[in-house]
Amino acid sequence: MKWRLVAVMVGVVALVLAIHDIPLANHLETVERDRLATKFERDAFILGGRSEEALEDGSAATDTGLNAMVLRYASEEDVEVVITDADGIGVVSSDTTKVGEDLTNRTEIEQALAIGEPQTGERYSDTLGSDLFFVAVPVLSGDDRVGAVRISAPESIVDSRVGDQLRGLLLVALLSLAIASAVAWLFAASVVRPLRRLHAATDRLAAGDLSTRAPTDEGPREIRDVADSFNSMAARTEQLVERQRSFAGTASHQLRTPLTALRLRLEQLSIEAGDDEQIGSTVENALIETDRLRRMIEGLLALSRAEDTAVGPDVVDLAVVLHDRAEHWRPLAEESDVRIDVAAATGTMVSVVPGAAEQIIDNLIDNALEVSAPGSRLSLTLLSGPASTELHVIDEGPGLSEDERRRAFERFWRADGAAPGGSGLGLAIVHQLANASGGNAELRTAPGGGVDATVTLPNGRVRAT
Ligand SMILES: Nc1ncnc2c1ncn2[C@@H]1O[C@H](COP(=O)(O)OP(=O)(O)OP(=O)(O)O)[C@@H](O)[C@H]1O
Ligand SMILES: [Mg+2]
Repeated sequence: MKWRLVAVMVGVVALVLAIHDIPLANHLETVERDRLATKFERDAFILGGRSEEALEDGSAATDTGLNAMVLRYASEEDVEVVITDADGIGVVSSDTTKVGEDLTNRTEIEQALAIGEPQTGERYSDTLGSDLFFVAVPVLSGDDRVGAVRISAPESIVDSRVGDQLRGLLLVALLSLAIASAVAWLFAASVVRPLRRLHAATDRLAAGDLSTRAPTDEGPREIRDVADSFNSMAARTEQLVERQRSFAGTASHQLRTPLTALRLRLEQLSIEAGDDEQIGSTVENALIETDRLRRMIEGLLALSRAEDTAVGPDVVDLAVVLHDRAEHWRPLAEESDVRIDVAAATGTMVSVVPGAAEQIIDNLIDNALEVSAPGSRLSLTLLSGPASTELHVIDEGPGLSEDERRRAFERFWRADGAAPGGSGLGLAIVHQLANASGGNAELRTAPGGGVDATVTLPNGRVRAT
């Protein structure tokens, strides 16, 4: 982005320079040519004035002072000078071959002598084989034309003098471009850097870090204002989420006590009901509902704790936890004649939110046992990859359709005909804990048709102490 901004700004400056400098260059060229013509004309008149007397008395060719002056001027200005008499015969010249030559075939000399007016212009020169720039002036003595002076130079010499001027202009343009590039670079740096930081802050917020803030001390005012607004929004969001979390946590916590009291009273009522079957069964059902409510409250509490990402992750040996939880569940599984097989090599370190590994495994085994028929098998497997480890809890139950597998992670969702007593929060908790640990959870279909509940967790390394 920075380079694009610099390119645009330099491009604009280059365009402005081109719009400005191309006509200026043309104008400069015309002005420089006019200036040269005027200067040569003035010099030709000076030389004419100096040679007037010598031309009049026919001593010009032998006038050493005049000859020296012509030679010096021609070499200083890098031009050719020729002085003719009234008949157009070369008398003094920096090019000695022209002395004694009839030069009236040079139109400018012929015209200067004929009209008595200065002649300036360009024409093709057969002698040079290229274009010639010339100034020819008559030498006047009173009203008489006693001769002519011509100063000429190949067009290329005039071009190079004009070119010197244009080179100066080009240099200034290049200098302007260099300054524009430097300014554009500084400007882009001052805009792009704070924008990048703001972008990074929005990314962090989107990834769930609600405590993130964008720097508000650099860049142009507009960007600082945006950063300020972003920070206010992030602070407000953090506050709202925090309030919601603590409400869910506190409410669930507060509900536990009256619920325990309710359960105790129901148990008491069950004893007092004695042999009355009707009251006994009503109380029994009320107890089941109370248990469901308790599980739901426990689940909500666990969820609100899982959402609290302020707690850093723990590194645990997932294989050890898996074996331990399998031992815990085995007696219950055996009661329903379900076999639990574990395939996990110890030393499988993963990084998880404290206590999450146990909760994840317990919830998945609980679900799997719920649907396992007597004589079936439940397999718990760990597959370790380079960056993460997969935990598979595979049952031989009836399985779930694709739509059900997706919906199973929703809070309070339970499949039609699911066993009573569940709260529908177990998988939501698994999902939340896996996410909070930097991993994910999904339900797949096992090869045997049951469910393969898969949780992926990032590998962890025990920090050296
Ligand atoms: N292994 C499985 N096989 C078939 N169905 C399953 C399996 N695991 C979960 N389900 C279905 O997904 C639903 C949601 O599961 P979840 O664990 O979230 O809630 P629950 O088990 O009903 O209640 P809780 O776990 O809170 O006591 C279950 O009610 C069940 O219908
Ligand atoms: Mg469950």
